Amino acid sequence: MEARNCLAACVLMHFILAVSAIDKRMVYIVFVESLPQHPYSLAFHYSELLKDIVPPSFARKSLLRSYTNFNGFSAKLTEKEAYKLRMIQFQHHNYNLKQCPFFHVNHLRFAYNTALPAQCLVRKIIGARSYITHGKDLSARDNNGHGSHVASIAAGRNVRDASFYGIAQGIAKGGVPSARLAVYKVCDHYCYSADIMAAFDDAISDGVDFISISISFNESFESTSNPIALGALHAYAKGILTINAAGNGGPALFSITTDAPWILTVAASGTDRQIVDKVLLGKYATLVGNGINAFPSRKGGLPIVYGTELSSTCSESDARNCSEPCLVRSSIDQKVVLCDKVPKLKYINITGVPSFITPNMEENVSKIEPYPVVRLSTNELNLVKTYIDSTTEPKVQILKSEAIHNPGAPFVAVFSARGPSTFIPDIVKPDVTAPGVEILAAFSPLGSPSDSPFDKRPVNYNILSGTSMACPHVTAAAVYVKSIHPNWSPSAIKSALMTTAREFNPALYPEAEFAYGSGHIDPLKAKNPGLVYETPVEEYFKIWCNISRIAGSFTVTNASCPTQLTLKDINYPSMSVRLDMKDVFTVSFPRTVTNVGRANSTYVAYIEGDQSRLHFIVEPSTLQFTELNQKINFVVTVKGKRMKPETLKRVSLVWTDGVHMVRSPIVVYTGETTSAGGSAQTPSAGGSARTPSAGGSARTPSWFCLLSVMLIIMVTLY
Ligand SMILES: *[C@@H]1O[C@H](CO)[C@@H](O)[C@H](O)[C@H]1NC(C)=O
Ligand SMILES: *[C@@H]1O[C@H](CO)[C@@H](O)[C@H](O)[C@H]1NC(C)=O
Ligand SMILES: *[C@@H]1O[C@H](CO)[C@@H](O)[C@H](O)[C@H]1NC(C)=O
Ligand SMILES: *[C@@H]1O[C@H](CO)[C@@H](O)[C@H](O)[C@H]1NC(C)=O
Ligand SMILES: *[C@@H]1O[C@H](CO)[C@@H](O)[C@H](O)[C@H]1NC(C)=O
Ligand SMILES: *[C@@H]1O[C@H](CO)[C@@H](O)[C@H](O)[C@H]1NC(C)=O
Ligand SMILES: *[C@@H]1O[C@H](CO)[C@@H](O)[C@H](O)[C@H]1NC(C)=O
Repeated sequence: MEARNCLAACVLMHFILAVSAIDKRMVYIVFVESLPQHPYSLAFHYSELLKDIVPPSFARKSLLRSYTNFNGFSAKLTEKEAYKLRMIQFQHHNYNLKQCPFFHVNHLRFAYNTALPAQCLVRKIIGARSYITHGKDLSARDNNGHGSHVASIAAGRNVRDASFYGIAQGIAKGGVPSARLAVYKVCDHYCYSADIMAAFDDAISDGVDFISISISFNESFESTSNPIALGALHAYAKGILTINAAGNGGPALFSITTDAPWILTVAASGTDRQIVDKVLLGKYATLVGNGINAFPSRKGGLPIVYGTELSSTCSESDARNCSEPCLVRSSIDQKVVLCDKVPKLKYINITGVPSFITPNMEENVSKIEPYPVVRLSTNELNLVKTYIDSTTEPKVQILKSEAIHNPGAPFVAVFSARGPSTFIPDIVKPDVTAPGVEILAAFSPLGSPSDSPFDKRPVNYNILSGTSMACPHVTAAAVYVKSIHPNWSPSAIKSALMTTAREFNPALYPEAEFAYGSGHIDPLKAKNPGLVYETPVEEYFKIWCNISRIAGSFTVTNASCPTQLTLKDINYPSMSVRLDMKDVFTVSFPRTVTNVGRANSTYVAYIEGDQSRLHFIVEPSTLQFTELNQKINFVVTVKGKRMKPETLKRVSLVWTDGVHMVRSPIVVYTGETTSAGGSAQTPSAGGSARTPSAGGSARTPSWFCLLSVMLIIMVTLY
């Protein structure tokens, strides 16, 4: 950590804030990158610091929490006091700022927090804590279901005959059934930064092996003000890898918000088990759409209503769009309603028993709704309209959903957030892809299966889609790799998962690696990757410094970063650069690989993929290893002529010794209004893109009491 150079009590602050509506004091998080040499009470140190800032009578009350693993604290301050605290860094004789480059104050909102732990102990869940301080349920219990779901994906035990009302029936099994979980509930209706930081702090202290976070922010913002990025960097420094969902804001380019390089960022794919719902148009046709519908089907069908038939009080256009006021019981009860627009059914309290046929805004993703709903393509919707027009008493029957085989799997889910990162352009994000579409996993019966206050069906298993579901798959794979190689660093495990991932067909994805990263994880291969790219935390601290400078407005020092290090120079298992459009370019990626395969082995490099108009040099192109853990440096140089705006070129660098294939994508692209492949679409609300929630399968009362709304799961090896 660069800040070690600082003298005694060199204080640096990033990060800030939160709101207490009562007295206009907000909660500020202050990070101290370097502390006095002699460990004494940090709380004492911080309250001494605060005495210079707040009215003396308030000093003790002001300090809310002293973090253990972040060298920082949270305090209630007015805006003026926060400013004073910033300025004191420049004036106070105790603080040597020149040597202390990390000093920022950021704008991040979070709430007043005093952790309120609720702990229990069992074999599977070794701890559950709640960080929720506002709302109806402050306990660590999962009252929502999302936490149970992601937890059981990572570490659930085998359960036979699991299904959602018979749909997708089979054995439900977590990635590593023997792993244990520590659960940290940080989200209720909102996820506050101070709570997330506190959970990271405790998880690091608790000695977890991995941190799995199925939370991502809906806005891309630089990593220096992102609590997950910040927490994950400190976790990384302590040897803990953080695995994080990429976000559900896809498929537009630049929709990714989880861009910190020290995080393993996970995109979502569809599996070969696809859930579809069929609609019978009288005896005329059977249409296949998306929807997870467990409601009983009405033999012979129900009358279908559309437009003016729906409501005489609505305009025709509103009625066709199924606007909320048009959905009155008398006209929709026991009927199928055809809609030109997707009504937000989970927020509409409809009495009666309606069914809906709507357009398909999320192709190849089926979701559970509070009512029978089938989403059809435009062509199929037109068939329904033709049927209505050509029949005097049109009736349609919506069947119960069924699981079918999808030979097109795996495919990247439409909702999965795409790179590149606006803020950190020279990195491939997401890193890897894992199953995240229509995943059957445990659920808390306190939660609603469709996340609707009007759908109270209590279920022990639910089918959800989202990068939230993909994330714990990768966590499980990481746990698996670590169980075989207990001494591997976070970066070695991350590298193993990335360099052994299965490539998607880039021809099907104009965004290429910015859709799927290095590819689909392959845990069996990841346990024996041959070579790994290890990234020392010092490199990431340098990047952190760089990012904080780019973030300009948040930075309150102009001190330069100790060493210039750019993203492409980081020893990352993939390579990417955004080019400015010069006539010719030459870009180099220095890398170091560590031999974890066979002691005596020779690796040769080759480039795979379309190399037209580009020239690749790998120097040296043969690596001769004579012992395990030996490190060898090499440089990849890419040369090319001027590239048009919005161009993306990608190839793979493969090192092979005849046994292992160590693959790294190389992506060069041009920016400006960059849409790399020209495929940018407006972002659609993601997959099951549900706001974070929590989990466990509540199969037995004891299991249930332990389940928590756990957006953060920390996984501990068995
Ligand atoms: C993100 O969520 C917040 C809070 O719900 C909202 O105010 C903001 O507009 C959202 N931003 C985007 C880009 O959707
Ligand atoms: C109905 O939906 C279409 C498509 O979203 C929209 O263009 C139109 O304005 C909507 N009509 C009304 C009355 O809201
Ligand atoms: C939905 O509406 C019905 C009838 O108006 C009412 O009894 C019920 O409480 C409402 N449900 C919710 C969750 O608001
Ligand atoms: C849905 O799946 C079909 C068939 O595999 C494919 O052609 C189509 O591109 C997919 N759509 C999306 C948005 O992924
Ligand atoms: C930060 O990185 C950018 C490009 O990645 C580079 O141009 C710049 O010089 C770096 N700045 C610092 C302060 O390291
Ligand atoms: C940093 O530099 C800018 C312009 O170069 C200047 O306005 C600002 O006062 C400087 N900040 C500090 C903390 O020195
Ligand atoms: C590797 O090769 C070197 C030289 O050829 C030899 O001395 C050494 O014993 C070999 N190591 C192993 C583990 O085979």
